[in-house]
Amino acid sequence: MKDQRARHTAERFREVYGAAPAGVWAAPGRVNLIGEHTDYNDGFVMPLALPHTTLAAASPRTDGVLRVHSGDDGSAGGQIAELRLDALRPASDGGWAAYPAGVVWAMREAGLPVGGADLHYDSTVPVGAGLSSSAALEVATALALDDLYGLGLSRQRLAQLAQRAENAFVGVPCGIMDQTAAACCTEGHALFLDTRDLAQRQVPFDLAGEGLRLLVVDTRVKHELGDGAYAQRRALCEFGARALGVHALRDVQYAQLPAALDGLATGPADGGPAGGPDVRAAVRHVVTENRRVEEVIARLDAGDPRAIGPLLTDGHASLRDDFRVSCAELDLAVAAAGAAGALGARMTGGGFGGSAVVLVEEAAADAVAGRITQAFAAAGHAAPRIFPAVPGAGARRLV
Ligand code: GLA
Repeated sequence: MKDQRARHTAERFREVYGAAPAGVWAAPGRVNLIGEHTDYNDGFVMPLALPHTTLAAASPRTDGVLRVHSGDDGSAGGQIAELRLDALRPASDGGWAAYPAGVVWAMREAGLPVGGADLHYDSTVPVGAGLSSSAALEVATALALDDLYGLGLSRQRLAQLAQRAENAFVGVPCGIMDQTAAACCTEGHALFLDTRDLAQRQVPFDLAGEGLRLLVVDTRVKHELGDGAYAQRRALCEFGARALGVHALRDVQYAQLPAALDGLATGPADGGPAGGPDVRAAVRHVVTENRRVEEVIARLDAGDPRAIGPLLTDGHASLRDDFRVSCAELDLAVAAAGAAGALGARMTGGGFGGSAVVLVEEAAADAVAGRITQAFAAAGHAAPRIFPAVPGAGARRLV
């Protein structure tokens, strides 16, 4: 089935560019199990890769030109975007082509010997659902270029270059979680990442073997304020770290939290949009969330995956009440899941829309999904898209 998709992508490349590609590479979307809005605070995260992937068919070019084409690019009528490498400038292209262009730019900025390429993409990662379709696009591109130009870069380095593309070229101030998940996850595992020193551990997460299921609930909500509000949260955390005299909020130990909060002024930080958190609530979220990641790992290591459920639900409450990045649909998905007997549920990713994850007994999965769908209908929301997350593999060459 996967081979068939890779062959189809290679065939489309041949139709678009008139010759077979040198290869086909894949990178997955992700959900985050726990550890939200911690990755830009030097904290802990625990994503897992989805089976949904972005495929990149690619060939090198010798004339300093980058051509990109997407099977999903309805807006551009499926046209080829053509860019000169020496003319690539940050924020010069607002469309999706900025992601692959940014990766080439970041590699060249790092002094890596990367030339032009023809690229054709085909993706099954839902766009705008908080499942990191951008990181999948970036990392598939980075891995393809790494292979085409024999760079021999580590997976983590590819993720860092992809993040730099997104931060400095596209202009989104994201952390390192999504790109690392796309580059480094392995099948059957969640990836524990310490975003300070980038130490990794693959934590076995055999849902099926345990009789469990992790449902993804795509609310289909895309919050327009998402980008600005994300940057505001990040700035607030940096403000909090400065006020506490630490390098990053990661440095505030859980046991020190009450004292740290006492030392911070109350009231909203200046410049924040109405409805955002105050700095104390933001600090409380980050410090308790890092603690929850450690607790989740301890419970998984103890062979008790069911016991992580309450930690997921606590994490959601913290994102909703303290960090204020949830929305009505995400809250409803989590509440309906809980009322229907799920073990735990939380929003996943940046928030303001996107997706939730729900941990359920396999036998109850359909009933819980049905109850969430009913709750959405009763509230007058569009029907959510619900599917199981099976921990998949990170980026790889297919052909
Ligand atoms: C988005 C960002 C990540 C991370 C999450 C929140 O997905 O891209 O870097 O900050 O939000 O945990």
